[in-house]
Amino acid sequence: MFQRGQRAQPDAPAPTAGTVRLRIRRYDPDRDPEPHWETYQAPRQPGDRLLDALHHVKWYVDGSLSFRRSCAHGVCGSDAMRVNGVNRLACKVLLKDLGDEVIVEPIQGLPLAKDLIVDMEPFFASYRAVMPYLITAGHEPTRERLQSPEQRDRYDDTTKCILCAACTGSCPVYWVDGRYVGPATIVNAHRFIFDSRDTAAGERLEILKGRDGVFRCRTTFNCTDACPRGIQVTQAIIEVRRAIVGAQI
Ligand code: SF4
Ligand code: F3S
Ligand code: FES
Repeated sequence: MFQRGQRAQPDAPAPTAGTVRLRIRRYDPDRDPEPHWETYQAPRQPGDRLLDALHHVKWYVDGSLSFRRSCAHGVCGSDAMRVNGVNRLACKVLLKDLGDEVIVEPIQGLPLAKDLIVDMEPFFASYRAVMPYLITAGHEPTRERLQSPEQRDRYDDTTKCILCAACTGSCPVYWVDGRYVGPATIVNAHRFIFDSRDTAAGERLEILKGRDGVFRCRTTFNCTDACPRGIQVTQAIIEVRRAIVGAQI
């Protein structure tokens, strides 16, 4: 069985035209008192993504390297990580855009589980708290609930969220205090608050106007910059704030 670090390359040679050097923050809770850095070299072909280089390390150099991934096509949201200081999906970022040495770390603000894997439970607990599903009152419809294109457009942007946590893991307010619900939760609340078919907007706004809600945001825009789906996260937060203020008038 392959042992952790058995073939690690702590002094990986300088990258050549066809290679990239990866500095990866490693942590094994069963062995390491603190996280530390390890360096690897991986091949780099035109069109390769960071995920390809991480797979090379895991499959051919050090099988103990741990990271989440599933779809490899920017859909499942499982491989958000901090890449050269910015949160990215490893399967969407191209090596050619990252330079000869790439620094790879877990996203910040969530408990570190192992290597590039964080514990997502606090993130999903916050998400669940805003009831991220359609709530309707009254009679069961006898046909589909109709919605105009304009009504659908009102929340179209926030339907694109893949729950990767790149936004929440880039928010300085969340880093300091994980009780803040975080931008991803607000995005997913926005998706239903502005859905004309939903009847629970008031309950969600009540939750989000609390001390750990939307008014904690300091509009730093890190979340918007980090979102791999191009969602206007900060704009969504501002719209939810306005809805709360409007509801209070
Ligand atoms: Fe990821 Fe964007 Fe959704 Fe945040 S809003 S969880 S960055 S897809
Ligand atoms: Fe944080 Fe985004 Fe607001 S990074 S402070 S939630 S604009
Ligand atoms: Fe699914 Fe990257 S592996 S989004």
